[in-house]
Amino acid sequence: MIRVVVVDDIPSTRENLKKLLSFEEDIEVVGTAGDGREGIEVSRQLQPHVVLMDVNMPGMDGITATEALAVELPQCPVVIMSVQGERDYLRRAMQSGAREFLIKPFTGDELVASLRRVYELEAKKGAYSPRAAPVVAETKPGGQVCVVLSGKGGCGKSFIAINLAAALRIETSAKVCLVDLDLQFGDVGVMMNLDHSKTITELVDGSGSLDWEFIDDVLADGPMGLRVLLGPFSPEYGDLVRAEHVRAIVDILRREFDYVVVDTGSQLSEATLEAVDNAEHVIVVGALTIPAIKDTRLMLKMLESLRVDRERIAVVVNGHDAHAVYDGPSIERNLKFPVRVQFPSEPRLVAGSIHRGSPLVVTHPDSDIAELLKGLARTLRPSIEAPAEVKLEAKPTGSRRFSLRR
Ligand SMILES: Nc1ncnc2c1ncn2[C@@H]1O[C@H](COP(=O)(O)OP(=O)(O)O)[C@@H](O)[C@H]1O
Ligand SMILES: [Mg+2]
Repeated sequence: MIRVVVVDDIPSTRENLKKLLSFEEDIEVVGTAGDGREGIEVSRQLQPHVVLMDVNMPGMDGITATEALAVELPQCPVVIMSVQGERDYLRRAMQSGAREFLIKPFTGDELVASLRRVYELEAKKGAYSPRAAPVVAETKPGGQVCVVLSGKGGCGKSFIAINLAAALRIETSAKVCLVDLDLQFGDVGVMMNLDHSKTITELVDGSGSLDWEFIDDVLADGPMGLRVLLGPFSPEYGDLVRAEHVRAIVDILRREFDYVVVDTGSQLSEATLEAVDNAEHVIVVGALTIPAIKDTRLMLKMLESLRVDRERIAVVVNGHDAHAVYDGPSIERNLKFPVRVQFPSEPRLVAGSIHRGSPLVVTHPDSDIAELLKGLARTLRPSIEAPAEVKLEAKPTGSRRFSLRR
């Protein structure tokens, strides 16, 4: 039984939600509250599995209450409900530690799916079982999912995602699929010079049932046997791709591929958050500028509030600026997080590879940056195969910028 506490200031809304959920055999509303403070009190007493929380309430609002719950009852995930137009709250809500975000009006099915999902995820983490939480890689059969994120656009996410996918092919001869989840301005297709008419839009317009055959038909063929799921051709189609689509697509892809590498946009969309939830590896790309470091720190905080284990996260710094005053150690101190690899700035090589529409690890396989990309790919191998310490020494001129470690 999934025990739920409903927090909303409008009594009729509380009643409606209760009634809606009473039809579900596996869900029980064990308590209700009329504002944030009362919500915390009731949750403390009843220890529900999930708290369903409104945003705008007199007294303590839902976001403040969610923050407090994340600290006080971390085993008690919050699903935030908010009306349309309050989309700005998404970021704040997610930073406050909310697990999911429902936009009112939502359907009963959406609500129930969200509650079950949150519950199952918590259950998987072992929160409700005395056994230790399972290793993430073991919870999902099949291939591994690796999401490439950054707080800021232009840090080199797409460049790294493309080259990581290619490097995985080269280094492990695994089956690799690259997914462009930058749903508004995805440019994997142009960066790889792919001439292909089918995109993720095809998969979500409801015209066919989502199965491997359908996806196989939509995937583009990239270099070296890479398969690529392109992002929508136009930004307005981005909204069609919902979290449930992402989950279904990723589930199918991980059955067919050894690695699914996901490029993302600079907005933290629900699609991106869903991909992160399902990923074994989260690569956070930062750069050597103050705003980029700040954004990387925010992103790490955000991942922490989404309860992404530190072991799943790799921070990489893409050294756009060769004259940067920062270096690896100073960034590590600032982020309080190890930097797995720093890529040097190589405008000529990077631009050359993009111009040729071919990954840099293919066009310039012997360059330092290609070596580092391949090294990063090797660290993503399942732990049994991975060497305990991966260290890549730079060519003689190299400095600490060229280190790579696990
Ligand atoms: N290590 C690098 N050295 C030089 N230029 C880079 C490097 N990494 C990325 N770039 C360039 O930076 C720009 C932004 O990269 P991109 O991958 O599109 O970023 P994002 O996907 O994060 O918006 C691209 O034009 C790319 O050529
Ligand atoms: Mg990009």
